[in-house]
Amino acid sequence: ERGEHEKLLSALNQASLFFQKQLRQHPSRERAVSYLKARGLTGQIAQRFAIGLAPPGWENLLEAMEPYQLPVETLEKAGLVIKREADHRLAEKSPYYDRFRDRIIFPIRDARGRTLAFGGRVLGDDKPKYLNSPETPVYQKNRELYGLFESRQVLRKPTRFLLVEGYMDVVALAQHGINYAVATLGTATNANHLNRLFRIVPEVIFCFDGDDAGRNAAWRALRVALPVMEDGRQIRFLFLPEGEDPDTLVRKEGAEAFEKRLLSASALSDYFFRHLEEENDLSTLDGKARLFKETMPLLKSLPKGLFQRLMLDRTADITDTSRDTLLELLGNTAPAK
Ligand code: UTP
Ligand code: MN
Ligand code: MN
Ligand code: MN
Ligand code: MN
Repeated sequence: ERGEHEKLLSALNQASLFFQKQLRQHPSRERAVSYLKARGLTGQIAQRFAIGLAPPGWENLLEAMEPYQLPVETLEKAGLVIKREADHRLAEKSPYYDRFRDRIIFPIRDARGRTLAFGGRVLGDDKPKYLNSPETPVYQKNRELYGLFESRQVLRKPTRFLLVEGYMDVVALAQHGINYAVATLGTATNANHLNRLFRIVPEVIFCFDGDDAGRNAAWRALRVALPVMEDGRQIRFLFLPEGEDPDTLVRKEGAEAFEKRLLSASALSDYFFRHLEEENDLSTLDGKARLFKETMPLLKSLPKGLFQRLMLDRTADITDTSRDTLLELLGNTAPAK
């Protein structure tokens, strides 16, 4: 509903201004500023990403919002405050408390720059490392990409996007002048994310962390990407050294070396066959049949076009099958889910 959305957006905007102000003024700001500096960020980049601070304490935001006279239910709906359990409600305390406390705040903005939600990182090693806004009437996390607004502010005509895992990856890359990184928000990449990006650029490069979670995410992302691989769209995969993520790597080796790595990122098709060949013994007929069985539903999920044809040919090649056999089997295959 329109009126309600406006109210939520207005509350979120005020909250973002509050968090940014705390990073400039709150007595506890020193620790946060040192933290951001230690991670290589300047005040300028913090400002570009509207990074803020939720100070320690339970009712900072609640109190700061009082002058705006928004119903507290609006703040709750916006994901900013949480209702106390009935038996924790004391007469002298508000029945609500701040969701984000003692954390660095990353606002998540839509394509028009409106703040929809927040991610908050602990300054130390507490858990959870990142606390995120819940889904709200204005925030569906599988629709948003962190960093897209900020990227478009700087690059009028980007030629590609890097899809990374984390807030800090996007911000650290921007700090080094790499302004075309975006991140999904603690959720897997989906076709909607990719279609959004492909409306702007012809190429997307996945660049997940160099750990097991990152490598698994890459294969999952490939499967999700197949149905949107229309001819003319390019997807590549950059695999990072073990233990690195884009943030640690760009800080270690600088933008030039990092961008050099992008030149050698694997084409989707190469990663596709490399992965399948690693998992199946192609020196046996059994292994070929097994690869075939895994491949068919995936190829079936590709849009019809030259790319699908070429992928089929390659599959026929490595399994010593004729294209006709393959096309016949493809007709009897259900696409991958
Ligand atoms: P990572 O664990 O790789 O964190 O999670 P990171 O981005 O490298 O964080 P830093 O460098 O330690 O600050 C990747 C992303 O997964 C989501 C966040 O979006 C994070 O950026 N995540 C991770 C959460 O939402 N909650 C968590 O507790 C951890
Ligand atoms: Mn990781
Ligand atoms: Mn990471
Ligand atoms: Mn990291
Ligand atoms: Mn596999």
